[in-house]
Amino acid sequence: MPNKEYKFETRAIRKGNEADSKTGSISPPIHLTSTYLQDGVGKDRGFDYSRASNPTRKRLEENIASLETGTHGIAFSSGMAATTSLFQTLSKEDHVIISRNVYGGTFRMATQVLSKQGLYFDFVDTRDLSNLYDKINPNTKWVFIETPTNPLLELTDIQAVADLCKDANIKLAVDNTFMSPYGQRPLDLGADCVVHSSTKYIGGHSDVLGGAIVTRDDELASQLYFIQKSGGAVPSPFDCWLLLRSTKTLALRVKKASENALLLAQMLDAHPSVLHTIYPGLQNHPQHQLAKRQQKTPSGESIYGGIVSINLGSKKKCDDFLSRSSVFSLAESLGGVESLVCVPYEMTHADVPMDVKRSINLVPELIRLSVGIEHIDDLMADIKQALGN
Ligand SMILES: Cc1ncc(COP(=O)(O)O)c(C=O)c1O
Repeated sequence: MPNKEYKFETRAIRKGNEADSKTGSISPPIHLTSTYLQDGVGKDRGFDYSRASNPTRKRLEENIASLETGTHGIAFSSGMAATTSLFQTLSKEDHVIISRNVYGGTFRMATQVLSKQGLYFDFVDTRDLSNLYDKINPNTKWVFIETPTNPLLELTDIQAVADLCKDANIKLAVDNTFMSPYGQRPLDLGADCVVHSSTKYIGGHSDVLGGAIVTRDDELASQLYFIQKSGGAVPSPFDCWLLLRSTKTLALRVKKASENALLLAQMLDAHPSVLHTIYPGLQNHPQHQLAKRQQKTPSGESIYGGIVSINLGSKKKCDDFLSRSSVFSLAESLGGVESLVCVPYEMTHADVPMDVKRSINLVPELIRLSVGIEHIDDLMADIKQALGN
């Protein structure tokens, strides 16, 4: 199916989901096989071993590449496998600049694993481009940004960073997990590749782990396919099928979660028990104008995502809130149809050192809500009663 001729919602359902050519099955088959019959030595039918390639995975890769407006999709077994594989394209002494307050697992992988293997990382506040300029050195190969960040929802201007990177001959990767391709398409803004934890909005049902990288750069793609095949951090055919099934409803899910999140954020912002509400869709978010310009649905409407963070002012108030909430379940992760709540300081960001947490204003009183697609009346009522009124 050609890429450009169809709208996002149509590609989400059709791309990679073409009917099976042999049986006509509308839902694509799951190729549960590790190996493939060969017609002679060196004469395979396009597949030889499932670590290298698998028809169900190929369908998923085409689907995700199309949604992110890329030409290559490379699927991995988790978001961290995708990020790690990207960094495995680097050589000893290479340097990467990363958004401060990046996902805790990315921070852990960079500081506790890859830095031991001779890679250098600097974590900077990429909201301000001058911080990036200051850290660029002749060995800088990549800038890796996450926007909005987790859980403080700080934004980085993707287009401005992409321009800076092009001038300096550095590549730009954007972790687009929080917005999903429905809410933000970094390749269109000049990024060289997009990284996803497909465990989140792409999967959308809290039932599968996955990761993906999408690019239009043939050379980068061939390096990544090589690492994918060599390292073997690949999703199973069944997980690929689940993800393919999930992207069909991505637009509906992300739209609804964002609508719910905006209504909840407005209520929380006006609530006397909440010290501070962070949500890019609120006028008082310091980067609201950037969010409005950068985070857009494929048809051009501004969209602010499904994550809202609140500061309740004290640990006791947080504990009370968590013990009372019932529609919002206490759990790590985000981006599913069900609403979740977590305390990033002690959960998702547990491995980030205390001084780093302090420097980025990540406090123990901060609660992160991943707003799902339940009825808004039930979400509102749950939050109100969890706040004590
Ligand atoms: C922004 C972001 N990137 C990457 C990851 C890692 O993804 P995974 O858990 O699928 O390895 C996460 C996980 O929470 C995340 O939130």
